[in-house]
Amino acid sequence: MNRRSRWPNENSNPFAGIERSGPGRIGCRIRYFPSLVSTQATALELAADGEPPGTVVIADHQTGGRGRMGRQWYSPPAVNLYLSVILEPRISTDSYPLISLVAGLAAAEALEHFAPGRVNLKWPNDLWLCGRKAGGILAEVIGGATGKLTGVILGMGINVNLEQDDIPDELAVKATSLRIVTGTICDRIAVAEILFERLDSRLHELEEAGFGPISAAWEHYSALTGKRVSVLNGAERRTGVVMGLDVDGALMLETVNGRERILAGDVGIEGAYD
Ligand code: BTN
Repeated sequence: MNRRSRWPNENSNPFAGIERSGPGRIGCRIRYFPSLVSTQATALELAADGEPPGTVVIADHQTGGRGRMGRQWYSPPAVNLYLSVILEPRISTDSYPLISLVAGLAAAEALEHFAPGRVNLKWPNDLWLCGRKAGGILAEVIGGATGKLTGVILGMGINVNLEQDDIPDELAVKATSLRIVTGTICDRIAVAEILFERLDSRLHELEEAGFGPISAAWEHYSALTGKRVSVLNGAERRTGVVMGLDVDGALMLETVNGRERILAGDVGIEGAYD
């Protein structure tokens, strides 16, 4: 079965005009689907079929969009960006967790073009506009089941033209979109184009120089630095004031027991919603 017949829903591709030439560049191939269960699952299958790194899978709608920590990602049709990038980064697999931080920075830089001064990052990888979540990142390794990691599927969901009335009740005070904060409809293709350019540039920087030089740019967008937070990781809760990011991307927390490094968890700012 060839790839065309395997992916029968891949018709005209509105993102074809922003494909970028050059092997490995983000968006060197853009596979567009009107509807998928999850771009993550399809990108993983395409990677296994030999689709090259840099390929982006975009869906206009997801019926089973996945978020971090087993959550769902709200993915209504025709308004937002839901995409997954096949990556084979030239970094050690120990550094793979840095990819989602770098992707968060690239997304923040892309949104800055459309909503200047209103973009923040909430560690590890929530994208905020005016204090509400407008996007999220989900990085999943390729080859985890075999024990030999060969790459990463980098998933990004960005609320572009979602309207307040279309946000489900349980997300209504937490979620936002570019359209809600700017009051104008944004061109999803233009958002994707800038996102691919920023992602290419920041991933290249990570490969060449590590996370150190990138962390200052990340800090510029940090919503947490200087804030008193609570971090929940499984059954473990830690509380303290965020001092910034460590060179390896860990969150540094000043607690009653001294400085602690947080590697994973859900962070809530004291006095704000979780
Ligand atoms: C989060 O929980 O904040 C991460 C959300 C990641 C959502 C994106 S949408 C495109 C890609 N496909 C998925 O199923 N999830 C990611």
